[in-house]
Amino acid sequence: MGVQISPSILSADFTDLAGEVARIAPAADWVHVDVMDNHFVPNLTIGLPVVERLAEVSDLPLDVHLMIADVDRWAPDYADAGAGSVTFHVEASTAPVRLARTLREHGVRAGMALRPATAIEPYADLLAELDMLLLMTVEPGFGGQAFLDLVLPKIRAARELVKGRDLDLWIQVDGGVAAETVERCAEAGADVFVAGSAVYGADDPAAAVQGLRQQAMAATASSWWGRP
Ligand code: DX5
Ligand code: ZN
Repeated sequence: MGVQISPSILSADFTDLAGEVARIAPAADWVHVDVMDNHFVPNLTIGLPVVERLAEVSDLPLDVHLMIADVDRWAPDYADAGAGSVTFHVEASTAPVRLARTLREHGVRAGMALRPATAIEPYADLLAELDMLLLMTVEPGFGGQAFLDLVLPKIRAARELVKGRDLDLWIQVDGGVAAETVERCAEAGADVFVAGSAVYGADDPAAAVQGLRQQAMAATASSWWGRP
């Protein structure tokens, strides 16, 4: 699939989400929607009614990132709300394999997210159940935080697993992804890049998306895993 950019509307104007999505639509692959419940993370954002309406007005598919407790109960509803991809946190799920299978049955791509301190190795055997692995590069909850370099070895380990098993699994990074950090992520093995403040904090969000894409593509082309 190659490099994909998924701007996060967490840093957009919440009073004009349709307009904010339209600003990135010409350049982006997805729109990343951060759902927070003030339980799994200490912040509260939007829920099902807003996601349902966004799915209706967005020209881009929704990449929904659920930072909520009791996610086994709620994630399928986000699939039914019209998302293209639904990502749950493994730390919030009691049955991640069942949940991933349920999401696929509901017609969406199944994503699983790991907080920075959650290791990939215990989940190596269930990667084939997933369409995307999200490796958080900040503690989830807020936009605009500093990128955590300590996650880079995990990105590399995940890419080694994907390569070694010839899996069709996207590796997404989220948190502090910007011009200064996107190349490190791509070199390590990421191929889907979420960026909030780096996109919506720019004067021209679509140009910011294109800039990140070019940097990521160049870094991938010369990386240990992306070289032809
Ligand atoms: C944080 C969210 C991110 C956030 C990223 O918990 O999951 O998607 O919007 O924002 P930046 O790119 O500003 O770090
Ligand atoms: Zn996110």
